[in-house]
Amino acid sequence: MTLRLPPRRVLIALLATIVVLTPIVFFWVRSLVPNDLSPMAMGYADYGGGPESEHLHHGEDVSELTGPPSQKPDVAVELVARKERFDIPGRGPMDGFTLNHTSPGPRIVAQQGDLIQVTLHNDNVADGVTLHWHGVDVPNAEDGVAGVTQDAIKPGQSFVYRFLAKDAGTYWYHSHQVSHEQVQKGLYGVLIVQPRPDDVIAVVHTYDKVRTVNGEYGERRVAAPGPTARVRLINTDNGPMAAWVDGASYKVVAIDGTDVNAPTEVSGKKVLVTAGGRIDLEVPTSKPVRIGLGGGPTTLVIGAGDAPTGTEPRDEVDLLSYGSPQAIGFDPAKATRVFRYDIGRRIGFFDGKPGLRWWTINGHQYPDVPMFVVSEGDIVRMTIKNTSGQVHPMHLHGHHLVVLSRNGVKATGSPWWTDSLNVEDKETYEVAFVADNPGIWMDHCHNLPHAAQGLVTHLMYTGVTTKFHLGGGTDNQPE
Ligand code: C2O
Ligand code: CU
Repeated sequence: MTLRLPPRRVLIALLATIVVLTPIVFFWVRSLVPNDLSPMAMGYADYGGGPESEHLHHGEDVSELTGPPSQKPDVAVELVARKERFDIPGRGPMDGFTLNHTSPGPRIVAQQGDLIQVTLHNDNVADGVTLHWHGVDVPNAEDGVAGVTQDAIKPGQSFVYRFLAKDAGTYWYHSHQVSHEQVQKGLYGVLIVQPRPDDVIAVVHTYDKVRTVNGEYGERRVAAPGPTARVRLINTDNGPMAAWVDGASYKVVAIDGTDVNAPTEVSGKKVLVTAGGRIDLEVPTSKPVRIGLGGGPTTLVIGAGDAPTGTEPRDEVDLLSYGSPQAIGFDPAKATRVFRYDIGRRIGFFDGKPGLRWWTINGHQYPDVPMFVVSEGDIVRMTIKNTSGQVHPMHLHGHHLVVLSRNGVKATGSPWWTDSLNVEDKETYEVAFVADNPGIWMDHCHNLPHAAQGLVTHLMYTGVTTKFHLGGGTDNQPE
């Protein structure tokens, strides 16, 4: 055999290949997420213009920031997580995960001020499990994030969560270990603090493209609890859901667990429920009504007899101007830390995988992302800007944010307190909160596959550390 290519051309081809490949290899190697990573050592500290701290990497461990250690629980729940087949009424069997053999898991109901104790046992979920109390501002050790506040609970192991039900409202819980898979396949449930006699619960969840309400598919029916119902809508999916009422006007009485001040009557409009978010509606039920849940066959009818059928209204309730203003208890103009959370995307590698649209935070890719550092007592302002081409439901653990403005337009309605904020492409929200719950808190997109692709960072208090690690021997994979 003779090689016909002249040596000169071979050399040039070789050089060209090296020139092209070197930066690619460089970026590939740089993108590899270390398989044992401390959340403390992730990325770079962003002090938001506040004092820089030498105490960033020492202090109290998150596992000391527990709920009341010795008080007797008012509500004690035992949950057993399993991988098994279960039934979706109206649809059929589903292979997924259960809590006490059901999905959604048992409803946890408490009075305001109660101490809730949940003992979670993992029977046979191989990756391990945890439970996170979405929207409840628990002490950090009870937050249920694998690799940040605890280790994933392996088969045969248990973990006890204890926290006070400080704030009345509609919440939910879900696994925060391999959450993009475990939540979708069933490891979630409802948590209500201070239930009311007129409650109707509508937790919406999509299992493998099958949208359900309260775990059931198709038109479902509940009895009218009285002349009006408080419909507690919970969106446990990865995308926003439009909800509306066929056959009556309604009021939006709470957002993410917090009551709206002076809600007004709404008719012919839909309301958007952010992924992870909750909206409570007050609906007159002297005649049967139908709650539209994103379109499709699954709806919830309240009352006996035929309920009207409608289509999704075009107009939407704008929470920026809904209800009446009220004091928020602090002055955002006196902010002591100011952060930006810019969500973008770029071509490149994420953990060694090439892609055209990996998420960035302030131009950086996970795990090289900003860690927002605060001290207890700080007044914090944050501008969340999305230019990534997709919607992101942004969720900060352990705190509630109040919306100050959207796209430069000031909020004029009831204080819009939120923990799950739907940030559309090309939208900019300015939010504020008080740093009053020390710990290391996830601040991530609740489209859980996006989080698994790195749209995650942390809010970190000075003087708090964590001994837990992501990856490594513990296999903690919160997203
Ligand atoms: Cu609903 Cu980080 O969680
Ligand atoms: Cu997202």
